[in-house]
Amino acid sequence: MAPLSKLTVPELQQKKGKEKIVALTAYDVIWARLLDEAGLDLILVGDSLAMLVLGYENTLPVTLEEMLIFARAVSRGVRRALVVGDMPFLSYQVSREEAIRNAGRFLKEGGCDAVKVEGGEEVAETVAALVRAGIPVLGHIGLTPQKATMLGGFKVQGKDLASAQKLLTDAHLIAEAGAFALVLECVPAELAQKITEEINIPTIGIGAGPFCDGQILVLPDLLGLFEGFRPKFVKAYASLAQEGRRAIKAYLEEVKKGLFPGKEHSFTLSEEVKKALGLSK
Ligand code: KIV
Repeated sequence: MAPLSKLTVPELQQKKGKEKIVALTAYDVIWARLLDEAGLDLILVGDSLAMLVLGYENTLPVTLEEMLIFARAVSRGVRRALVVGDMPFLSYQVSREEAIRNAGRFLKEGGCDAVKVEGGEEVAETVAALVRAGIPVLGHIGLTPQKATMLGGFKVQGKDLASAQKLLTDAHLIAEAGAFALVLECVPAELAQKITEEINIPTIGIGAGPFCDGQILVLPDLLGLFEGFRPKFVKAYASLAQEGRRAIKAYLEEVKKGLFPGKEHSFTLSEEVKKALGLSK
């Protein structure tokens, strides 16, 4: 089979206005492979893994070292899609030097093609420095979970005129800083449409309506694997938590009853060895 070539940043950008960009998060090699084989354009190793995989309360505690473990696992399973490593809290805010060094680790050690940083005006200079260093950056504005407390919780952003104008300005600044695309999270659809029309890089929406250049969802939400709070913008395309529960229960019952493993799941000795061990009837 001929090797699949990696999607490049310019190829992804050329989809703007022509073809929807389809993105999902992934945290391990099994799902990364399935997503890539399905033809996803972009796979984000999101810091949402802090809650979904590591069981933290929010995204703040996850470390760069932890993110790199998952980034490596995902990138090992991907041949075509662009793999983006999510820079965890405090890995890019302290200084530009630290941001470049830490972002570089996603490319050098994590096998990623790009990094994502949250924020608008306050990170625009950092985005520019990363791009100058040769690190492709995916921006992320709107509801930025690393600042959820400051934003008043997990709420739709840009609903009033002042905050809508601030998001428009932020979008322009991040695009001008050289980000190759921009995630818009929890933004009214009309505002996301205006941003999409005004900036020259693709917008990738999550809870930002249908007019963005692409869409991203968190994989466990799409699979119906996460049964906690389900935001309005999430569509579960499967009920894997239910199916998983059913399978685990069936296994438990079959083991208790001695129905599993059966003959078809067991290894057997040859007649010769059985005879020598005195096991033949
Ligand atoms: O960490 C994450 O999963 C994300 C997506 C919500 C875009 O940032």
